[in-house]
Amino acid sequence: MNFPSTINSKLPTVGTTIFTTMSALAKEHNAINLSQGFPDFNPHPVLVAEIEKAMRSNFNQYAPMAGYLPLRQKLAEKIEKLYSCAVDPETEITITAGGTQAIFTAIVSVIRENDEVILFAPAYDSYAPAIELAGGKALFCDLEAPEYKINWQNVKKLVSQRTKMIIINTPHNPTGTVMNAFDMAQLDKITRGTDIVIISDEVYEHIIFDGIEHQSVLRFPKLAERSFVINSFGKTYHTTGWKVGYCIAPKNLTTEFRKVHQFNVFSVNSIAQVAFNEILKLPDLYLELSAFYQQKRDYFQRAIQSSRFKLFNCEGTYFQLASYHKISDERDLEFVKRMTRDMGVAAIPISVFYRNNTDNSVIRFCFAKEEETLKRAAELICKI
Ligand SMILES: Cc1ncc(COP(=O)(O)O)c(C=O)c1O
Repeated sequence: MNFPSTINSKLPTVGTTIFTTMSALAKEHNAINLSQGFPDFNPHPVLVAEIEKAMRSNFNQYAPMAGYLPLRQKLAEKIEKLYSCAVDPETEITITAGGTQAIFTAIVSVIRENDEVILFAPAYDSYAPAIELAGGKALFCDLEAPEYKINWQNVKKLVSQRTKMIIINTPHNPTGTVMNAFDMAQLDKITRGTDIVIISDEVYEHIIFDGIEHQSVLRFPKLAERSFVINSFGKTYHTTGWKVGYCIAPKNLTTEFRKVHQFNVFSVNSIAQVAFNEILKLPDLYLELSAFYQQKRDYFQRAIQSSRFKLFNCEGTYFQLASYHKISDERDLEFVKRMTRDMGVAAIPISVFYRNNTDNSVIRFCFAKEEETLKRAAELICKI
């Protein structure tokens, strides 16, 4: 007999993520994998050389709990330059094992039993389970296809005495939309005079198109003073597998964040931190990232323009949404599985990002791929 004979799951509705499912299916059927969000190209050779150098220079033991200080200092300089925001590297920046860990830690450090957290759906899949594990309750404000813009009147209706947190994500995964100055003003209006804490997930800050300026909460002092800002080196430097990110927050929030961080991670791999500190000395690499991905977006959009898919606006991230309503009336999950099996291209169904699985016949392609990969995928997509 197994012991314990029954486990009362803390996350009874959570199964294997769609990303694992679709990547496995793509592999099984030898399909081109445009499902999971990762590049199929290598990081910059300087970054690879620097991580090797760090290893040979004996940066192989525990890094400081809050992160390698020169890296935090370099990040503070970058934030000052980009967003005119002074951040103390000693007390307001913590290096984390990726953006997902930073989100989890931020949520657990402030959310208690019965606290309410407002999320925008479709939402990145880690937010709601982290809230539930902390005993909180996720309230969803749906973004409606095809614009996926925030309806601030609806947000207002969800705010109450129990609201402890609002989580925003810009540029937004999976929709590719971007919050503008009006959105930030509305967020300020709603939170001003309250104790609401914000998580601002900005992991795609350098992947934003057509000259649009990224509206980091760090640009807005009244928002910055109540925010955990989440970032990921994985997205900016094509190193999703290295799992290094960071959290910027005012001292009082960072103090609570680090109390949790030190007992579930303690410190993050040292050699990657040393290498990221070196690569940050080359600002063109992040300043030119938007142009790099815009070229990929434009190439992919042109290549599938003649297909039967209807393409949605993509203002940022490396994801392209497309509607297949002219092709099939299957549910989106069934459609992507059949597309992977029979047509050789894997994508992600958007319904999985909604709590109630809202299905608008929309799927997500990841275009962080070599041009050759995109070309082969587009040829198959145009035959569907
Ligand atoms: C919106 C969003 N937030 C956070 C993350 C997590 O970043 P990391 O891979 O550094 O954990 C991702 C990764 O896909 C993401 O899309």
